[in-house]
Amino acid sequence: MTFPPELIALLRGTVKPVALTGAGVSQESGLRTFRDAQVGLWAQYKPEDLASPEAFRRDPKLIWDWYAWRREAVKAVRPNAGHYALVEIEKLVPEFTLITQNVDGLHRMAGSNNVLELHGNIQRVRCSECYTFAETWDDDTGSVPRCKLCGGLLRPDVVWFGEALRREQLESAVEAARMCDAFFSIGTSGVVQPAASLAYAARNRGAVVVEINAEPTPLTVKANYAFQGKSGETLPELVKAVWNL
Ligand code: OAD
Repeated sequence: MTFPPELIALLRGTVKPVALTGAGVSQESGLRTFRDAQVGLWAQYKPEDLASPEAFRRDPKLIWDWYAWRREAVKAVRPNAGHYALVEIEKLVPEFTLITQNVDGLHRMAGSNNVLELHGNIQRVRCSECYTFAETWDDDTGSVPRCKLCGGLLRPDVVWFGEALRREQLESAVEAARMCDAFFSIGTSGVVQPAASLAYAARNRGAVVVEINAEPTPLTVKANYAFQGKSGETLPELVKAVWNL
């Protein structure tokens, strides 16, 4: 892929870039994106119908099992070239903030340090009542494991539809987007708020907005530059073009 010389020059001078990532970044690691069809047993469900407090209240075992299935899927995969390109950017610029909607932990596994996991992390499990984190639980009882402290049902420490994001995380993400000089939106459909609005916050404050996504999104026409492609291919090429790596 070729990149416009003026973009390369702009990015070479960036001191405070921000990247927002979504499920597309983990696709090349072998994880399905959210709006892909679910497979097998889960084909009949939409993620919105599984990732919500109402769904958990209605059928906690179904939701626990869906996350247990995803947790196992995540354990079996490794970061890809897109994740590693973001690790490189963090090393190359004075200040880099990586904001992710992904709950898979692959950015940290790749070596990124300054990561805001806006939607939580699937490997963490906590009580749905008293918020106590659980390190171990018994998965063989045929029902949802319970908190050892209060007896409440355990759940993944992720943000579900209709739930508020952690305030400090969101404030840090908004601040980073407002203060950045370049904003990358990578592998996200850009339809879930408040994450989707971060690119616009950056753009309104004068940052150059660069999208890398496999298909067009609502942001594509608003971004300063939009590249259609896989993040695991396009991002390393961009890093190479900008920083001569
Ligand atoms: P989506 O599944 O909505 O979008 C993934 C995007 O990645 C799509 O636009 C794909 O075209 C694109 N894509 C797929 N493969 C790609 C690749 N190899 N390289 C680049 N792009 C690729 O996932 P998110 O935008 O992350 O929230 O979804 C946002 C949030 O909605 C999720 O965090 C989750 C969800 O439902 C909660 O669970 C609260």
